[in-house]
Amino acid sequence: MRILIVGGGGREHTIVWKLAQSQYVKKIYCAPGNAGTSTLAENVPISSEDINNLLSFTQEKKIDLTVVGPEAPLAAGIVDVFTSKGLSCFGPLRSAARLENSKVFAKEIMKKYHIPTADGQVFSELNHAISYLKEISAPVVVKADGLASGKGVVVARTVEEAESFLRYIMVERAFGTAGDRVVIEECLEGEEVSLMVFSDGNTIIPMISAQDHKRVFDDDEGPNTGGMGAYSPAPVFTPELLRVVEKKILKPTMAGLRHEGIIYRGVLYVGLMITKEGPKVLEFNARFGDPECQVVLPGLKNDLFEIIQAILGGTLYKQKIEWHDSHVACVVMTSGGYPGDYKKGFPIYGLELAEKIEDVYIFHAGTAIKDGRLVTAGGRVLGITACGETLKSTLDKAYSAVEYISFEGAHYRKDIGWRALK
Ligand code: AMP
Ligand code: GLY
Repeated sequence: MRILIVGGGGREHTIVWKLAQSQYVKKIYCAPGNAGTSTLAENVPISSEDINNLLSFTQEKKIDLTVVGPEAPLAAGIVDVFTSKGLSCFGPLRSAARLENSKVFAKEIMKKYHIPTADGQVFSELNHAISYLKEISAPVVVKADGLASGKGVVVARTVEEAESFLRYIMVERAFGTAGDRVVIEECLEGEEVSLMVFSDGNTIIPMISAQDHKRVFDDDEGPNTGGMGAYSPAPVFTPELLRVVEKKILKPTMAGLRHEGIIYRGVLYVGLMITKEGPKVLEFNARFGDPECQVVLPGLKNDLFEIIQAILGGTLYKQKIEWHDSHVACVVMTSGGYPGDYKKGFPIYGLELAEKIEDVYIFHAGTAIKDGRLVTAGGRVLGITACGETLKSTLDKAYSAVEYISFEGAHYRKDIGWRALK
């Protein structure tokens, strides 16, 4: 089989790594990929959002299966386009991907089908939104409707902060049309868990749970990022909680979507807050999480290609999905300044030594080869991932690998996994 992976981050390197282990997979392309994917796949210089050129490439190279990593091409309907040309493409259709790219749509579905989530209201007029803020009290959460690379949400401690974020979205139009509408919702308290599931529209099979670390600095300080590290499983997510989530969230969500005429085929990511009243949905994503993918796929015993084929063929119910009985943790190394401005092109040292440590995998995100040298090429640069018997020993292994690696301005959190270790 000839496979194309769309995307070029740590998630896509992990997907390439996992599919490269499949007995069915003979050749992998990755568009655009990064320095890490180039060791297992052939990188293709096409942007993950350039659907027309991805389509021509797929037809020209007679690709058997395309796997879409990031949200933007899904929101733009890559799966619809490929499917209409008779091509096999893994990911939800545009109508289903709306669960991620419209927080208003997701909220409406959750309200309509009684799925536990934060109480919220939708606004398209600034003055109505501001009047509402005056009626309620802080803390409060303000969300831009559309895709905003993880920057479209603020948990405001005061009404003033909420109002200024509203103006940033709706007046300054910081996220363009993604800010045409906003959701204002109650602030939930508890511990966050990321649960990803495989779905063919009828059968849903949950993956192992994970927890990521969104803030840039230790002790959850500083601005939100795409994710600074993750670990799996998340001990807070007990088998009892999984049963509750399956009954109250996963099944009704899928049934609700079917009722709306939407068949969800792909990976659904459910961002949960484990509150005193039980688990509630913070967000849906229409794809693998990043860096959650880096800590979940290494634990998967099955051949990922077989699972994807079963999802595309509507036979997921036949799959018996199994997980290694181990812990996986990932520490993300970023460019200095990320998630704000940062410089690129710094040489990266020490990877060969770090990779020699047993059970350590290094997934590349923003890396490139320049003049024969490995250099930084993005905000999140590397995901240093380790497997082990306990979370503590796993994290120790990951951090011992991190110590070998250096590049100018390198930053990473030193407290990945702190909630589970405490
Ligand atoms: P989202 O993109 O909707 O997941 O929001 C990004 C982050 O904001 C989440 O991972 C949470 O840390 C936080 N967040 C979102 N919604 C809420 C909420 N209703 N209450 C508390 N925190 C929230
Ligand atoms: N780590 C969260 C996400 O992928 O959106």
